[in-house]
Amino acid sequence: MNQVKKYLTKNQRHFVLDLCEYLRFPSVSADGNKDGLNHCARWLVEHCRRIGLQAELCKTKGNPIVIARTPGHRSNGKPHYLVYGHYDVQPPDPLNLWKTSPFHPRLVGHSLFARGASDNKGQHFAHLKAIEAYLKTGTELPCNVTFLIEGEEEIGSPSMAAFLRKNRTKLRCESVVISDTALYGLEHPTLSYGLRGVCGLEIVLHGPSRDVHSGMFGGAIENPAMALCRLLSRLRDENGRITIPGFYNDVLELSPFERAAFECRPFNANEYKASLGVPDLFGEAGFTPIEQTSARPTLEVNGLTSGYQGDGGKTIIPSWARAKITMRLVPHQTPRKMLALTIAHLKKICPSTVRMEIVEEHGGGEPYLLSPESAKIRTALEVLRTVFGHEPLLVREGGSIPVVNDFKRILNADSLLLGLALPDDNAHSPNEKFNLEVFAKGILMSAHLWQQLSSAERTSTI
Ligand code: BES
Ligand code: MN
Repeated sequence: MNQVKKYLTKNQRHFVLDLCEYLRFPSVSADGNKDGLNHCARWLVEHCRRIGLQAELCKTKGNPIVIARTPGHRSNGKPHYLVYGHYDVQPPDPLNLWKTSPFHPRLVGHSLFARGASDNKGQHFAHLKAIEAYLKTGTELPCNVTFLIEGEEEIGSPSMAAFLRKNRTKLRCESVVISDTALYGLEHPTLSYGLRGVCGLEIVLHGPSRDVHSGMFGGAIENPAMALCRLLSRLRDENGRITIPGFYNDVLELSPFERAAFECRPFNANEYKASLGVPDLFGEAGFTPIEQTSARPTLEVNGLTSGYQGDGGKTIIPSWARAKITMRLVPHQTPRKMLALTIAHLKKICPSTVRMEIVEEHGGGEPYLLSPESAKIRTALEVLRTVFGHEPLLVREGGSIPVVNDFKRILNADSLLLGLALPDDNAHSPNEKFNLEVFAKGILMSAHLWQQLSSAERTSTI
């Protein structure tokens, strides 16, 4: 372990330079440009090979998956862990709000700015660098590790279930380690034992067959933009409750124990408001912001388009209006049922003056919840305590990583969620960044984790 630590201290600068190379690929999965993704995946395979892993590029119906294994698997009888991550990133838009170009990484103080820096390239790169230290110093790893880095997480991981089924034997493991959630500060190392699920749809309201003069026709026909706003505003009441009949039927209520634990977490409403630039908070009445963002379901409009978007005015009644909607789900809501309830309700309340078209989105994900008291979680908490030197937070997260349920169903493996993204790292926003002190701690965390998980595994099977 001493050799490993020495290597880590000595090479931290190289690690940052390697990460910068990785961040230069515009590997955006939401749009049609496949070049950025393919080049990025190939670079990653090469990089994994360079650090001593056995890496391959696996074709799927969608974007390729990178598999990289520590040498000597199978024969050695050691425990096996998967590290999951994703090399695809969110679109960088709106571009004009970036202070530096999203795919030209820029270091300012301890912050490395680039799209994908924290979500998720920097986070899984920390694990790669920890393994590199073992391999390059010839230090024996107490376990086998397989990296599974996909290119479709940000679009709901549509290829992963089939891939896991096909490679079930090769990927069988004790557990999956994922760094793709939040870290609430260097003094608050964080382990998540739950994630929300997600599902989405797009609705289009069609009005006149073309944009028409609002002076000539305005007054006699429906305006689809106005109709859409009316429709959307009816989905949530003034108490922040979603009004779709049956929406809360399957919701697992928070236990008094959890509510008490959430209560202990540091939270300052004024700082929260200021950090987001909002004049006030809004959420479901009767719940705290922490509860609202991690253990309660939501419905949000993510995009709204209609009519003339250019400079100046244009006096028209638009021909159509379109909204992208997603819902965050909690146990035991399912994407399929929530979509069905939502669509039925929209159909019922849509006025007859417009024609509604519903485009169902693919790739939802189910919610995820582990017992916070499992032995593996206790081991991981101990690692966080040692490496960060502070008492870790045990939280439920509001974001989604759909594939964790596939790991459970197909590989029967739980996921340990050890987040390294600071709340102000701007994931999915302009000026995304990754904190390099966190990067260094993350690498150290990974190096320790393999030791602790493996020895806990040995004692539990004796
Ligand atoms: N890293 C996030 C998930 C996340 C974010 C977990 C914050 C916890 C806290 C991941 O890359 C992500 O953005 N997932 C998507 C999934 C969706 C597109 C199916 C999400 O949550 O929106
Ligand atoms: Mn993301």
